[in-house]
Amino acid sequence: MEQQVSKIKKNICRKVHQNGLQSLVVREFRPVDKEEVQRIYCEGFMEMIPDTAFRGLRHHPERLLLYAAMTVLCFVITMCWWVIALLPAIVLGCRYFYSRRVFHGYLEQVMSKDMGDIERFYSKSPDSCLWVAVLEGKVVGLVAAVGQQRPRRAVELQRMSVDRRYRRYGVAFELGLKVQDFAAAHGYSTVVLGTIAYTPAPHRLYQSLGYCCVGVTNGYATPGAGMSLMERLFYKVRHHSYSLDVQNNKLSQH
Ligand SMILES: CC(C)(COP(=O)(O)OP(=O)(O)OC[C@H]1O[C@@H](n2cnc3c(N)ncnc32)[C@H](O)[C@@H]1OP(=O)(O)O)[C@@H](O)C(=O)NCCC(=O)NCCS
Repeated sequence: MEQQVSKIKKNICRKVHQNGLQSLVVREFRPVDKEEVQRIYCEGFMEMIPDTAFRGLRHHPERLLLYAAMTVLCFVITMCWWVIALLPAIVLGCRYFYSRRVFHGYLEQVMSKDMGDIERFYSKSPDSCLWVAVLEGKVVGLVAAVGQQRPRRAVELQRMSVDRRYRRYGVAFELGLKVQDFAAAHGYSTVVLGTIAYTPAPHRLYQSLGYCCVGVTNGYATPGAGMSLMERLFYKVRHHSYSLDVQNNKLSQH
C-alpha cells in the first residue's frame, strides 16, 4: 500500500522536474494566498461554461429532440429557410448565455459564503480545511474539505481547481491525497464529492484517486439556477456523485 503511494508520488515528482520545476508542496491556506486562491477557483469554475453549453448537449439527447421540434415549429410558422439556418446558432447562443448566468449566480453564492471569507470558514473549525498547492513559491491549486456529521461521518471534497498553466503535473492528485489523509486522520469513514463537469479530467482524476461513482442526477438543480422557462429550456446539467471508502482505500496513508 505504502509502496503504491510512494510510486505515485515519485511519478508526480518526475513530472514536476521534467517540466523544470521544483518540488510540489501542499500546505494549509494562509490569508496571503486569498487573491490567488479566488482567481484559480473562479477561472477553473468558469471554464465549465462552454463545456456545459456545447459539450453537454451531446449528453442530453432529449434536448436535441426538443430543439429539432422547435426548428420544425419555427419553419411551419415562418416558412422561412433563413430562420431555420440561423436557429442552431441561436440555440447555442442561448445555451451559452443561460449557462453563464447560472454559473455566475452560483459563483456569487460561493463568494458570499466560504470563498469570500476563506479564513473564517475553513481555518476556524477542526472539521474543515482548505489547502493550497505551491510550486516554486506560487500558489497553483486548491482543494477544501468540509466534515459532515449526517447522514454519516463523511467529509466532502470541494473547490478542487488547478491553475491552467500547471495542469497534468499531478497537482490535483496530491491535493486529493491530502483530503484523504485528513479524512483518515479525523476518523471519517467516507469522502464524498459531486461534480457537474462534462470534461473527462475531473472524472478520471477522482477515479484514479479511488473514488466510485455512486449516482448520476440528470437535470440537477444547480444552486444559483432560476426557474424561468428560458433557463429550463437552455440549461440542464448532469451531476455525478462520487464516494470513497477511507478505510479500504489503497492510497490512504493512515
Ligand atoms: C480537474 C483538474 C483539477 C485536474 O488537475 P491536474 O492537476 O491537471 O490533474 P493531475 O495532473 O493531478 O491528474 C491526475 C489524473 O487525472 C486525470 N486527468 C487530469 N487531467 C486530465 C485531462 N485533461 N484529460 C484526461 N485525464 C486527465 C489523469 O488520470 C491524471 O493522471 P495522469 O496524468 O497520470 O494520466 C483541472 O483540470 C482543473 O482545475 N479543471 C478545472 C476545474 C475543475 O474541473 N475542477 C473540478 C470540479 S469537480
